[in-house]
Amino acid sequence: MKKVIITIDGYSSCGKSTLAKQLAAELDYVYIDSGAMYRAITLYFIQNRVDWNDTDEVNEALGNISLEFVYNPITNVSEMTLNGENVEHMIREMLVAEKVSEVAAIKEVREFAVAQQQQMGKQRGIVMDGRDIGTTVFPHAELKIFMTADTAIRVERRYKELYAKNKNITLHEIKENLELRDYIDTNREISPLRKAEDAIILDNSQLSTDEQLKLVMQWV
Ligand code: C5P
Repeated sequence: MKKVIITIDGYSSCGKSTLAKQLAAELDYVYIDSGAMYRAITLYFIQNRVDWNDTDEVNEALGNISLEFVYNPITNVSEMTLNGENVEHMIREMLVAEKVSEVAAIKEVREFAVAQQQQMGKQRGIVMDGRDIGTTVFPHAELKIFMTADTAIRVERRYKELYAKNKNITLHEIKENLELRDYIDTNREISPLRKAEDAIILDNSQLSTDEQLKLVMQWV
């Protein structure tokens, strides 16, 4: 069967990565978590005290960043490495979540990430999730999905995920972070989060992951 490009965009914590991983496994495609790239860049900026309001500093820092996804046969997914170091866990922490949307709104940062994402899609047979994948990264993708879910459900999902690693996390903190990121991602000047005109809306508030996969496989 001809290999295609599948894009999944949507609000924070809608379950985009869960669906993307399922689809990639089902179709034997590559899964790319574009958000992990913005998170890794943010981690680098924080660790190296880069002033991201200063374009020269941003450009210099980007020149020192190498991002690569490395396949982990134990978890069966690709994990994010930053300059050779596996940062998969670190990039999910609140410290990064609090700043990532600010960093992802920077023009130079987006150009850096988008160029690499487009390169990854050259071979097709890829499922990529993010915020601008169907609109900017792969505007000609064969299947575009725009995911949404009720805020309360998204907060609950993210809480379960983060609480497993950090017992001090609160629902309130998570809700504030999701709303802030959605606000910045939707209102930024460059490639804001939007449904591509030809994207199909998937509201998974009331769907199990199995039901969701079945439905999307019909679209595929
Ligand atoms: O997908 P995830 O929640 O890990 O993404 C983290 C952040 O990275 C988003 O809130 C958004 O600010 C940014 N992002 C983006 N464009 C993408 C993917 C993520 O701006 N394609």
